[in-house]
Amino acid sequence: MSRVHFQPRHLCLAAATALATLSASAVHAQAQPPIKVGLMLPATGTFAALGTAIENGFKQYVAEQGGKLSGREIQYFKVDDESDPAKATDNVNKLIKRDNVDVIVGTVHSGVALAMARAAKESNTMLIVPNAGADAITGPLCAPNIIRSSFSNWQPGFATGVLAAQKGYKRAMTITWNYAAGNETVKGFTEAFEKGGGKVLKELTLPFPNVEFQALLTEIASQKPDVVFAFFAGGGAVKFVKDYDAAGLRRTIPLVGSGFLTDGTLAAQGASAQGLLTTLHYADGLDTPRDTAFRTRYATTYKLQPDVYAVQGYDAAQILASGLAAVKGDFKQRDAMVAAMRKVNVDSPRGKFTLSAAHNPVQDFYVREVKGEQNLRTGVAVKVLPDPARGCKM
Ligand code: PHB
Repeated sequence: MSRVHFQPRHLCLAAATALATLSASAVHAQAQPPIKVGLMLPATGTFAALGTAIENGFKQYVAEQGGKLSGREIQYFKVDDESDPAKATDNVNKLIKRDNVDVIVGTVHSGVALAMARAAKESNTMLIVPNAGADAITGPLCAPNIIRSSFSNWQPGFATGVLAAQKGYKRAMTITWNYAAGNETVKGFTEAFEKGGGKVLKELTLPFPNVEFQALLTEIASQKPDVVFAFFAGGGAVKFVKDYDAAGLRRTIPLVGSGFLTDGTLAAQGASAQGLLTTLHYADGLDTPRDTAFRTRYATTYKLQPDVYAVQGYDAAQILASGLAAVKGDFKQRDAMVAAMRKVNVDSPRGKFTLSAAHNPVQDFYVREVKGEQNLRTGVAVKVLPDPARGCKM
């Protein structure tokens, strides 16, 4: 029988090996500081709840990965953008110049996001847009360092135009806030609706984020179109849907909209929203294992039901993770990282989607009908709809 006796020189060797391993991992840790993520979202104003849902969704995905992406901790820096375009450049520069973030995730409001895209382009900071649909972001302002996990304004507008034409409506009026998201969504609606044989009689607008709808509702009542198309979201959408009903219009002139009109808002809209038809790239009742797992975890963690904004935040993190995985967490290999992000097939709770050459989701637009507090999927308005990416040269 032979026995191994540890001699002092064995111990020395073991200690030296342990030390070497320790210092190697210390060097590794030093070379891999946390990824600095700048969250620029609304925490106040009509879109405040939307900002919260995006942040929750983003953090849920990171938590599912054990709190790290490709071995790197995530450090958050936050700015409340108040959905105020006038403050947008100063706000985004807090993240770019003061906090020196690696990547910005934001925002909800198209006007704010346009300023962010310009600043990101100028400074070559990575930007992932988890909501704002401003067409220019994946149009003339498109860039390798800008990626969207949500939609372009044109997309849900177009899908709703297809739906309204299919329903046989001929004369429409539109109503929205007078800013990029409202105007571009109406443009998409008009394009599809008129291609389908309809005519938009009049475009009604009011300034963002005003909610004094009465005069405009009176005009709708007097013109009696076959259908009204609306783009509103957040607190403004709650008030609009309630006012439309209170004016007695819900039963006489059908109201359709991009799904933001009823997403994350149904508890507050109650009876006024019942039966409304919308289109969107997310819906309740998808009933896939992927969506169910996402929703169960979200509801448990946040004591809230997820909505489209939560999904877009979750997918922003997924897209970032796929890029980081391709370069083993080495954020400096930017070209390789972006190339991987561009090719990603995102396994989203909404259903799988890819990114276009302009970095915008190519995705299905569901038809949804409000039942109780759910936007239940009843069909698909347009399958695999790409944004036209007009003016994007990349
Ligand atoms: C936008 O400003 O682009 C915007 C805001 C809220 C939405 C959708 C789009 O729900």
